[in-house]
Amino acid sequence: MSEEEGKSLTKTQYESLEDLPGVGPSTAQKLRELGFHTVESLAMATVRELEPAGISEKKALAIINAARSSVGISFIRADELLRMRQNVLRLTTGSKALDKLLDGGLETQTITEFYGEYGSGKSQICHQLCVNVQLPPERGGLNGAALYIDTENTFRTERIVQMAKHLGLDPGNVVKNIIYAEAYTSDHQMFLLENADEVIKENNVKLIIIDSLTAHFRSEYLGREMLATRQQKLNKHMHKLIRLARAFNAVAVVTNQVMAKPDMFFGDAISPVGGHVVGHTSHTRIYLRKASHGPLRIARLVSSPYLPEGEEVFKITENGIEDVSEEDRAKPGGR
Ligand code: GTP
Ligand code: MG
Repeated sequence: MSEEEGKSLTKTQYESLEDLPGVGPSTAQKLRELGFHTVESLAMATVRELEPAGISEKKALAIINAARSSVGISFIRADELLRMRQNVLRLTTGSKALDKLLDGGLETQTITEFYGEYGSGKSQICHQLCVNVQLPPERGGLNGAALYIDTENTFRTERIVQMAKHLGLDPGNVVKNIIYAEAYTSDHQMFLLENADEVIKENNVKLIIIDSLTAHFRSEYLGREMLATRQQKLNKHMHKLIRLARAFNAVAVVTNQVMAKPDMFFGDAISPVGGHVVGHTSHTRIYLRKASHGPLRIARLVSSPYLPEGEEVFKITENGIEDVSEEDRAKPGGR
């Protein structure tokens, strides 16, 4: 391999905002107020997003370009693209069957959406992932922390403790590595994510959860005339999430409710909230439903960039998300 092949096109490394050319203390301050706390987040910004900082378009572009060169995401050769793709890591769900459905687990750098009705297990999976992400790679984890944005006040530390104990982890340490925020409104939810980059970097966050992505939006933006605004905001929110996932090589998970579609005659009569915006930005969508009464749940991979559709069964127990046994399948309601 020649020397040129062996090194990235990236030349300069900037650590903090003030290191970027043309960024003095006051510009840095304004950028932080806009939610850009790290060079990584600026690398993913658009010129328009920096407008409110009161800097010229030209300067904004220069700052973004410098940040991009620093984190290595300007023009890159296909071999580097491949290398970026090779950086994708996988996080275990806790169930081998579910992991198989996802070709090894949830991917970093993309958004995975779990949707389904009340009690289908969306929040339970989120809890489990918060624990699993702290495992070492040989156990399917990412040796990282989790960030949990909770919109319905359903996060329970007690549940984390149960799951951590089952995996032989120190519950005290596990809860310390989950950074929690409750979002009171959709605007608050957006604000939290827009200001999350520093917390993500400082705590080595490798999993970002929004549970639920759509609940606030759905209840605040009612009626046809509000639909366009709602979709625009959701779009912005999702894009912020994907940029964070890419910048920090983290797994991003969102949950979503379903709504009935009475005018549909064929196929599933229910569909996830959020329409095309959520559908197009979620790279992997998983539909969860109850098998019947009891702990069994069915996960269906509905869309993925490269995996085939498929279904697997798992169960929710005291221990968390687990595989079903042959015995479970034989019970009434089993599959
Ligand atoms: P919504 O947020 O209401 O839309 O539902 P969800 O999909 O988030 O449901 P969630 O993940 O909260 O699932 C709740 C279900 O998980 C309960 O009905 C129980 O069946 C199961 N569950 C939750 N905690 C425990 C537990 O500690 N032990 C056991 N065995 N099951 C549990
Ligand atoms: Mg829930």
